[in-house]
Amino acid sequence: MNARLDWISQAGGPLRGVLRVPGDKSISHRALMLAALAQGQSRVSGFLEGEDTRATARILQQLGVRIAAPNAGERVIEGVGLHGLRPSAQPLDCGNAGTGMRLLAGLLAGQGFDSTLIGDASLSQRPMRRVIEPLTTLGARIDSSDGRPPLRIHGGMDLHGHAITTAIASAQIKSAILLAGLYAGGVTRVDEPQPTRDYTERMLQAFGWPIEFGPGWASLPGRQSLRACDVRVPGDFSSAAFFIVAATLVPGSELLVQEVGLNPRRIGLIEVLRAMGADIRIEAPRQQDGEPIADLRVRHADLRGIEVPLAHVADMIDEFPILFVAAACAAGVTRVHGAAELRVKESDRIAVMANGLRALGIDAQETPDGALIRGGGLRGGVVDSRGDHRCAMSFAVAGLRADSAVRISDCANVATSFPGFEALARGVGFDLEQVSQAQPA
Ligand code: S3P
Repeated sequence: MNARLDWISQAGGPLRGVLRVPGDKSISHRALMLAALAQGQSRVSGFLEGEDTRATARILQQLGVRIAAPNAGERVIEGVGLHGLRPSAQPLDCGNAGTGMRLLAGLLAGQGFDSTLIGDASLSQRPMRRVIEPLTTLGARIDSSDGRPPLRIHGGMDLHGHAITTAIASAQIKSAILLAGLYAGGVTRVDEPQPTRDYTERMLQAFGWPIEFGPGWASLPGRQSLRACDVRVPGDFSSAAFFIVAATLVPGSELLVQEVGLNPRRIGLIEVLRAMGADIRIEAPRQQDGEPIADLRVRHADLRGIEVPLAHVADMIDEFPILFVAAACAAGVTRVHGAAELRVKESDRIAVMANGLRALGIDAQETPDGALIRGGGLRGGVVDSRGDHRCAMSFAVAGLRADSAVRISDCANVATSFPGFEALARGVGFDLEQVSQAQPA
C-alpha cells in the first residue's frame, strides 16, 4: 500500500512573520552537474534538499562522482573532470525532474559510454524531442519511446559545435545544448525566441569556461575545462511566490521573505502582481555569487485583473498556477495567453488549475495557450492537484480565501521542490493540515 497525501486548507491569517524559502531548484541542479565535471572540490551551500535535486545527486554518484552531505543544504563534490564520469550499469532515475533529465541528456550525450535516463509516471509522459533534436544536430544519438522517456543515450559520439535556434523558449533546452557543447569540437551557439533564465551560462562562467552570452543567446567553445567553485544557492523565487501571493490576498498580512534569488528572467510575477495592484517591496538588493538577491516585503493589497503581457510569460513560467489563484481573487478578468508550455509541465497546468478553480466556484475558462479567469468569491470544495507540486501549493493558498475548507488531493510531490512547505506555511498563519489515505500500490 502507498499512502496518498491530501491537504486540507482553510481560511487563515493574517499572515505575518519573516521567513526563508529553500534553495533554488534550477541552480541546485546545475551546481551539482558543473561541480561534478570540474577539476577539484566544490562546496554547494543552500542546496535544495528536494527530491528532484537529490535525484540528480544520486545519478552523479552512480556515474562515479563522490558527493558528501556534511549538513542539510550542503554538498561537497569531488569533481572528476570533463572526462572522468564512469558508466552506470543501472538506469539513471530522474524521478519527477524535467530539468534533471533534459540537462543530463545534454551532458551524457558527450560521454564515451551509453546511459539510460528514466523518470516517474509524470516525467515519462513529458516531451523530449525538444532536446533530442538539437542534440542530434550536434552529433548525438538518443533513442526514446516515441519522443518520451526513457532516453537511451549512446556514448562515443564525436560531437561538433553548431549554431542552433530553438523553437521554444526553454532554459532546459538551451542548457542541454550548452552542456553537450562542452564536449563538441568548435563553437556551439544557442539563440532563443525569448530570453530564458541564464543560470547555466552564469555558472559556466563562474567555473571558468570561456562562454559569451546575453539575453536570448549564448555561445561557447567546446573542449575546455571547468575549475572547481563554491556556490551559494539563493532562495527559490518560485517557492517564495506562494507566500508573496498569500500575503497579498489575506487582509492584514505582512511577510518578509529573505534572501530570494531575483534573476531578471525569473521575476515576471513581481511585475504582473504589481500591475494588478500588489504591494511588494524589494529590500536590501545585493549580489551573491553573480546572482541578484534581495529580501521581499509583501503587504496585503486588493488586486484587479489584467491581461498578462506576453513579454512576461517566459519570466514567470513556473508561477502561473499561483497567478491563477491571484486572478481568482482579483476584481475583474485576468487573461493569460502565449503560455501553451504550461500544458507540458509536471501536469497540464492550465487544465488542472482551471478545473480546480471551477470546483471552488470561480469562472475559469481554458484556452489552448492560456486562460480567462474572472475573479469572485472562492468557496470550499475538493480539488485535484494531479500530483503537481506547484498546483498543490497554489490550491493551499486558495484555501486561505475560501468560505469553507478546501481539500487538495495528491500533494506528496510538493517534496520535489519545497520540502517543509507545510510547516513554514503554518508558521506564518496558514491553517493547513495533512490527511493520509491508504490506497492500493
Ligand atoms: C527550468 C526551466 C523551465 C522551468 C523549470 C526549470 C530550468 O522549464 O519550468 O521549472 O531549471 O532550466 P522549461 O525550460 O521547460 O521552460
